[in-house]
Amino acid sequence: MRFLLRLAFRLLYNEFAFTYDLVSWAVSVGQWRQWQRQVIPFIVGERVLEVAHGTGDLQIDLAAAGYKPIALDLSANMGRIAKRKLARLKLSPPFVRGAVQALPFSAGQFTALVSTFPADFIAHPQTVSEFYRVLAHGGRVVFVPAATILPAHIFDRLAKWLFDVTGQSAFPRADGTGWPPKLIEAYRRPGFEIRIESVKLLRSVVWVVVAQKPNLDESKIGA
Ligand SMILES: C[S@@+](CC[C@H](N)C(=O)[O-])C[C@H]1O[C@@H](n2cnc3c(N)ncnc32)[C@H](O)[C@@H]1O
Repeated sequence: MRFLLRLAFRLLYNEFAFTYDLVSWAVSVGQWRQWQRQVIPFIVGERVLEVAHGTGDLQIDLAAAGYKPIALDLSANMGRIAKRKLARLKLSPPFVRGAVQALPFSAGQFTALVSTFPADFIAHPQTVSEFYRVLAHGGRVVFVPAATILPAHIFDRLAKWLFDVTGQSAFPRADGTGWPPKLIEAYRRPGFEIRIESVKLLRSVVWVVVAQKPNLDESKIGA
């Protein structure tokens, strides 16, 4: 089962990337875009990198909020789809194709790294160490790893089941506990201060992880 899921996700991010928007809309019963936006209020500073941009929707929201982010993803297909989508809106953020485990950026370059629904790489020690390196002191990693659908009506119940099966809402319990200790430990090891916020929406709860690199400077980056 685990192998099949991995294969399905690999295909979805690459050969079948053109179906991604429809799939994410369906499994979230139309809430995906709203879930993605929940990272924005936690951003500090102006130098923002989006990690694993997928089809590029969060770039639209970041631009609307006044940011000029850089976008990075490993998949060439995702890069092509995102570029086309943004060009239609007259947006052309710098796109970088690369792996989060080896970020092609200099130390302390960003004040915020954002990501929504990242893959397993988000808890990998090499990823976390790269995040720590490219962040300025006082900077943050902000990511939405999962959302929990509140089973309000029949479609939401079906989506909740699908979502649970694919592991997308697996780790938080309703009260926010039950996070994999591995994830928390991976961020604490290099020195991040980590907290998990829950944002309650009408039909779901969105989980936002905020990992802050300690601020060694007197001047704070932001709120
Ligand atoms: C579930 S999608 C999330 C896309 C988008 N952020 C969203 O909210 O819909 C995961 C993304 O991670 C990218 N990805 C997977 N492994 C990666 C890695 N090692 N480095 C960078 N991106 C990676 C995939 O290409 C895919 O676009």
